[in-house]
Amino acid sequence: MNKPMPKTMTLDTPQQVAEQFASDFASWVNASTDDFHVALSGGSTPKLLFQLWASDTGPETDWNKVQFYWGDERCVPPDDPDSNYGVANELFFKPAGIDEKRIHRVLGENDPENEAVRYSQLLTKQLKSAEDKPVFDLVILGMGGDGHTASIFPNQMSLMDDRRVCGVATHPESGQKRVTINGPMISSAQKIAFLITGSSKTEKYNGIVNQTNESQTWPATRFFHAENTVVYLDFAAAGQ
Ligand code: 6PG
Repeated sequence: MNKPMPKTMTLDTPQQVAEQFASDFASWVNASTDDFHVALSGGSTPKLLFQLWASDTGPETDWNKVQFYWGDERCVPPDDPDSNYGVANELFFKPAGIDEKRIHRVLGENDPENEAVRYSQLLTKQLKSAEDKPVFDLVILGMGGDGHTASIFPNQMSLMDDRRVCGVATHPESGQKRVTINGPMISSAQKIAFLITGSSKTEKYNGIVNQTNESQTWPATRFFHAENTVVYLDFAAAGQ
């Protein structure tokens, strides 16, 4: 049975993906009547977005209404090149002068299991709740070439239904530990935005669009079929 496909915007270039998303993000934040809680994604795709947000060409966004979190973080110190917080801090928070009180990083330098518990408690305390569960206003997601999203990898599908807010993942190739929000925390978000660029994503994207059997084994697939999802894609990832 064909599952519903999300609203999808396909833009010419990664820069246009960042610009379209930033424009929509600004509208959501500016329309929000109180703080807007967003989980950032990691990897390379968001870098253009961070640079746009820090520049004076980005859309007017009321940053004093935004609270920043992460959907996943590598278990490394904040000054490690692999740190998702470190990348966002260098490209956006520092140059834009974002108030540190609005930035809630995962403490990658801590023991992963202890940090997953601490971050779960922080999110439970900070976020609005629905049915006694913390809910993000927006979760930004990327998609890895293996179909992972956040740090839920195809060989750790138990995290997709883990009722704890955060779990600990292990990168299947590098063995790197990561703290990730679990599947239900992603699904419960008011809005999910996928930012997907580059030809390395084409095979997986097409598999998801064509709803192949194999695509059901990829974590990203489930969140494509959520009605609160919007997909921002470039032509390369779409295979056009
Ligand atoms: C991470 C991310 C991860 C990322 C995808 C896509 O910490 O690595 O959260 O889920 O979004 O791997 O990464 P790229 O944007 O680098 O392709």
